[in-house]
Amino acid sequence: MLATHFCTAYPCFLVRRLVHRPRRLRRSPALRNLVRETQLSVHDFVLPLFVSEKLDERRPIGSMPGAFQLPLKQIADQASRARDLGLQAVLLFGIPQNKDEQASGAYSENGVIQKALRSIKSKCSDLVTITDVCLCEYMSHGHCGVTRIDGDHFHVLNDESVELLVKTALSHAAAGADMVAPSDMMDGRIGAIREALDAEGFDQTGIISYAAKFASSFYGPFREAAESPPQFGDRRSYQMDFGNANEALREVALDIDEGADIVMVKPALPYLDLLWRVRERFGKPTAVYHVSGEYAMVKSAVEKGLLDERATVLEIMTALKRAGADVIVTYWARELAKWLRD
Ligand code: PBG
Repeated sequence: MLATHFCTAYPCFLVRRLVHRPRRLRRSPALRNLVRETQLSVHDFVLPLFVSEKLDERRPIGSMPGAFQLPLKQIADQASRARDLGLQAVLLFGIPQNKDEQASGAYSENGVIQKALRSIKSKCSDLVTITDVCLCEYMSHGHCGVTRIDGDHFHVLNDESVELLVKTALSHAAAGADMVAPSDMMDGRIGAIREALDAEGFDQTGIISYAAKFASSFYGPFREAAESPPQFGDRRSYQMDFGNANEALREVALDIDEGADIVMVKPALPYLDLLWRVRERFGKPTAVYHVSGEYAMVKSAVEKGLLDERATVLEIMTALKRAGADVIVTYWARELAKWLRD
């Protein structure tokens, strides 16, 4: 009101001097840093590692340039290199020698993850080890649970699957996992896992719940990495419909009630709205998984010379943190640790 009044009475250059205008501090990098709201830190990131029982040498993952499947004998070394870069946590995925219909490799005392955990813990006990708790890599049919086929349809049997997930989580905890991360999306698995961990004396083992995990096209490259594409059907009967935000919030609430320590939203960039709402509504430590397809998209644009990798990745990660992520799972964790140091 005042400004309009002046404007009619005085020439504009005078108004600029008299009326307070908000301004942005952007003159120098130092000044911009001083007022920057979101600062990335190496402590924000978790590095996923794929460990295979079938390999002697590391094997590049074609769909994810720069990522590898690692043989068991290299896993401790890779983990301690990650720690030397300043990273605090790794997320382990296992590729077993054999798959079957009971996913027995997932909970065997000498399964690939159990061996990997013991090997990492003997070399760097202070690194936080998080394990993916899911059955898809261990099932011959590639689904995340026990299935029954009726004619043309298949069902995932929720409670039977939860039993196997509980066994898996317990065996990971016994082998040294600091946190287990159930990514299967069966109902009631967080409560069942929490109860079993407490009953067996693993009350210090935490749970990261993939609480809002959507049935997404962006997992495509991962399924090559983890050798876990479903042999029939898809995962829409147990992963979430990407049209549903309120349902996602209800799922998160349930997982928190059942005892999740950290809740996760996945994938990342197409779901920033949910990340924000989950962080705002529940105030729980919130993780986001920047998934394989999101990684592959940027990588291929970089390979074509269309994007600058470092600038783009730093912008994406800052956006995830700004939207509420306390923890970011990313295949760029190692590079980020280096870039943030330079
Ligand atoms: C299931 C699991 C998947 C991912 C993490 N855990 C695949 C799926 O649900 O189909 C995807 C991660 C990524 O795409 O980077 N064990």
